[in-house]
Amino acid sequence: MAQEVLFDLKGKVALVTGATGLLGKEHCKALASAGARVVVADLNLESCLAFAHELEQLFPQNHIGLALNVTNDSAVQASVHGVLEEVVSIDVLVNNAAMNDKVEGRNGESFGIVAPVDYPTPTFNEVLNVNVTGVLRCIQAVGRSMIQHGGGSIINIASTYGVVAPRQDLYVRPDGSRLMYKSPAYSASKAAVIALTQYFASAWGEYGVRVNALSPGGVDNAQEEWFVKNYTQHTALRTMAQPHDYRGAVVFLASHASRYMTGANLIVDGGWTAM
Ligand SMILES: NC(=O)c1ccc[n+]([C@@H]2O[C@H](COP(=O)([O-])OP(=O)(O)OC[C@H]3O[C@@H](n4cnc5c(N)ncnc54)[C@H](O)[C@@H]3O)[C@@H](O)[C@H]2O)c1
Repeated sequence: MAQEVLFDLKGKVALVTGATGLLGKEHCKALASAGARVVVADLNLESCLAFAHELEQLFPQNHIGLALNVTNDSAVQASVHGVLEEVVSIDVLVNNAAMNDKVEGRNGESFGIVAPVDYPTPTFNEVLNVNVTGVLRCIQAVGRSMIQHGGGSIINIASTYGVVAPRQDLYVRPDGSRLMYKSPAYSASKAAVIALTQYFASAWGEYGVRVNALSPGGVDNAQEEWFVKNYTQHTALRTMAQPHDYRGAVVFLASHASRYMTGANLIVDGGWTAM
């Protein structure tokens, strides 16, 4: 067996979904800095091409921009097929795309202050279609080629909220008014991502396809001070993550450094779930 260098992704191709979002860009940078050619995949082609170009200036490895909507079965199949006409194999898949009801209001249109008792089932299904079925679609489309090619690493981005329940008191302002509730859909979807991770790790281990989850904690993204205070008092390290704080974990899971690891959920949360 060829000797592989730990944390080295030279000659590998990595596809990242939701790649132009807050953490997606960081995953791309991490993979590219370790030597991978990155397929920057997200809803908007222009943004993907622009970010692939930006990445190219830092790490000239012929990165690719790709329009990819994870809710569309045939489009996922066609997009992955198109990439595989250009590259020999997709060695790493990072399933990062998700709808996340964030404090700072990104992707927040369909959420608002809806009490858990009133949470609409169509919204629940809409979130699961992106966060869970979307992950399944990409696992199937890319995994098929990984099996044919003799292996690969799939990284599913889950969340601490797939492991423990959200603390709804985080979202209450100092004056007692509530900003939002974290939705039941987000928690259910991220727990399902961890279950899918174990499922495919078990199913595909014999083909050399490793499947792991990465569960980030809350990321600093210019949230209001009261929220940061609420969040950090429940975090052992007393700080939110910076967007780049997951780079090491992504390279670890993608590379030979984690070759004996599959079906795991790597929690990188500053100690949130330890408290
Ligand atoms: N930001 C955090 O604090 C945090 C914490 C824990 C876990 N996470 C997880 O990390 C991942 C990235 O989060 P983020 O904070 O960067 O979110 P983000 O909203 O900045 O990025 C999400 C990306 O997913 C894309 N996307 C949404 N629907 C899609 C679809 N149907 N098809 C393809 N792409 C689609 C969006 O265009 C966007 O670029 C998510 O899985 C999220 O649940 C984030």
